[in-house]
Amino acid sequence: MRMRYSLRSLIVACGVTVAVAVPATGARAQDSLRLASPDGRNEVVVGVRDGFLWYAVRHEGKPIITPSRLGFAFRGAPTLFDSLRITDSTRATYDTTWTQPWGEVARVRDHHNELRVTVAETKAPMRKFTVAFRAFEDGVAFRYELPEQQALGDFEIMDELTEYTLARDAKAWFTKATVPKPDRYEMLYESAPASILDTVNAPLTLEMQDGPTVVLHEANLVDYAGIQFRGGPEQNRTLRIALPAWGDGVKVRGRTPFVTPWRTIQIADRPGDLHPQVLTLKLNPPSVLTGDLSWIKPMKYIGIWWGMHINTMTWSSGPKHGATTANTERYMDFAAKNGFGGVLVEGWNIGWDGDWYSNGNVFSFTKPYPDFDIAAIVKHGAAEGVGLIAHNETAMGIQNYERQIDSAFTMYEALGIHGLKTGYVGDYTLEGHHHHHSQYMVRHYRHVMELAAQHHIMLVAHEPIMDTGERRTYPNMMSREGSRGMEYNAWGGEGGNPPEHETTLFFTRMVAGPMDFTPGIFDLQIKRPTGTPRGPNDSRPRTTLAKQLALYVVIYAPLQMAADLPENYEGQPAFQFIRDVKTDWDTTRVLDGKIGDYVVVARKERGGPQWFVGGITDENGRTLDVPLSFLPKGKSYVAEIYADGPKAHYLDNPLPVTISKRTVTSATTLRMVLAPGGGQAIRIRPAK
Ligand code: NOJ
Repeated sequence: MRMRYSLRSLIVACGVTVAVAVPATGARAQDSLRLASPDGRNEVVVGVRDGFLWYAVRHEGKPIITPSRLGFAFRGAPTLFDSLRITDSTRATYDTTWTQPWGEVARVRDHHNELRVTVAETKAPMRKFTVAFRAFEDGVAFRYELPEQQALGDFEIMDELTEYTLARDAKAWFTKATVPKPDRYEMLYESAPASILDTVNAPLTLEMQDGPTVVLHEANLVDYAGIQFRGGPEQNRTLRIALPAWGDGVKVRGRTPFVTPWRTIQIADRPGDLHPQVLTLKLNPPSVLTGDLSWIKPMKYIGIWWGMHINTMTWSSGPKHGATTANTERYMDFAAKNGFGGVLVEGWNIGWDGDWYSNGNVFSFTKPYPDFDIAAIVKHGAAEGVGLIAHNETAMGIQNYERQIDSAFTMYEALGIHGLKTGYVGDYTLEGHHHHHSQYMVRHYRHVMELAAQHHIMLVAHEPIMDTGERRTYPNMMSREGSRGMEYNAWGGEGGNPPEHETTLFFTRMVAGPMDFTPGIFDLQIKRPTGTPRGPNDSRPRTTLAKQLALYVVIYAPLQMAADLPENYEGQPAFQFIRDVKTDWDTTRVLDGKIGDYVVVARKERGGPQWFVGGITDENGRTLDVPLSFLPKGKSYVAEIYADGPKAHYLDNPLPVTISKRTVTSATTLRMVLAPGGGQAIRIRPAK
């Protein structure tokens, strides 16, 4: 066996010096190589058997993934899969800590060991590739690196052959990726044994029999198709990667040298330990944004938005047009009065008339409707410290958007607009029929993110590509939709979100990153014109009012919306909680929770002493004891508690909220009584 040792020093971006030992070991084909996380709890084993490169994962000695194969199928070239031998391997250790500009947690430590294994084909065309494995305390990750080589230049991947063979069955929590809305992660969550899965979206949460909880996802998706997972037709415990395609069926086009996104396997002893999720941050490069970043600001915002969804306003021009100068200035005044930083306005730009779903090639991103004086509006807001959040719905007319995007972003920057919500309603691009999560679209989203950064614009993407940790590199990438948000409750009926929705969301979609869920609906009976698509009575959020408040703590978003109409907040004592709650956190702790049933989260504000606690439940009422042992010892606090009132029930009595105050310390255990479909929100501030 050939042995080679070297030692080098690395200066990591945030100024931390890391000693990296690189004992490089040429391994024989039949050898297996082991990699353990610095704390020893997570372990990867890698080897070659019968020409197949495989990896396996263990947690505390217990198998999680049993030997699973790695490789690629190409168009017009043999599969790179079954005639491999290990030719080289190297090792390294990294330890670096940095402060996120905003987040669920301020400080992130990336301490991991790395093993890079290079394999080559034993027969023509003699191609080679490397798989880099990393073992962290919160999981493991690996990615393929295809070096520049004569036998592999331009390529078209038809299938990534990565397998995940679960060591035992698991309860999978997922959204279906294929029917009936193929491309927007907007199906209801389901659970089923992992062994019978069809094609599902990432992140995929797996409660393994006898623990732990595992989340399969990806990190640093730059120039590749978004990841999905599919069960095998043989209905065993092997999951494979499914990649959405370009219009011609190719999954990924590239040229060596090339790296794939990281395939992440997050491992948590209990579901609550999945948060705060920082694994994907560790696998993305440090921020590339420099200079004055004061334009990036976590904040609360309101919007000319819900009115369109409940049919009291329209996006289109006409008597109910929401995006008028007067209406926007009214919203801005309300925002200023309540300490909110922004007002989102949809329907401000030409293109919404008629069936806007089909207007992908009609939208202008620079021309306002005549009743929307954009310059005057921005000026009005600036005078009171409120920014306009513009909106670009593409309806998947990507070329129409890309033709205009430079001039649009230049215009927004010149006007002083620092916030933008994008939208991608539609399953495929209008031109080219590329899948919503294809490599084509991944490139597009990345382009928008980079261009927005250049123009000092914070982004919120609806119908996004799933978050894979980009916010570390581009902290202007604030949040995304990527699951069913509040809007489904406006459309109502059977199409609305069931009470368990957010209790699942927290352990699934939210593990990827922040979500623009848009909580805060107070008019839970919804007084609105009749004639909404599913009838007047059944279109309303199926939650209590206290649960709407608790969502501000449970569902993390750096730009967090107060989604209801301003008039529905006027005179409501419970609105004080939305005014008080923060959107940027120093610390996040999941105090209790069960996927699909309930969850209680505590978060400490960034740069201040206050804590906020949110508890939510599904359709079952429940009583939870919540110890406040996370508070510093020996200090006295006041807890302002917004609880479900007497006989509150999401079905027929959603509004009662009891607001009370009591003195608490780290020794206090609060009894949290949650109504069916209910919740509780608590602000904990130092006693004077
Ligand atoms: C769907 C988005 O989720 C929603 O927020 C938006 O109002 C509409 N599309 C129109 O763009």
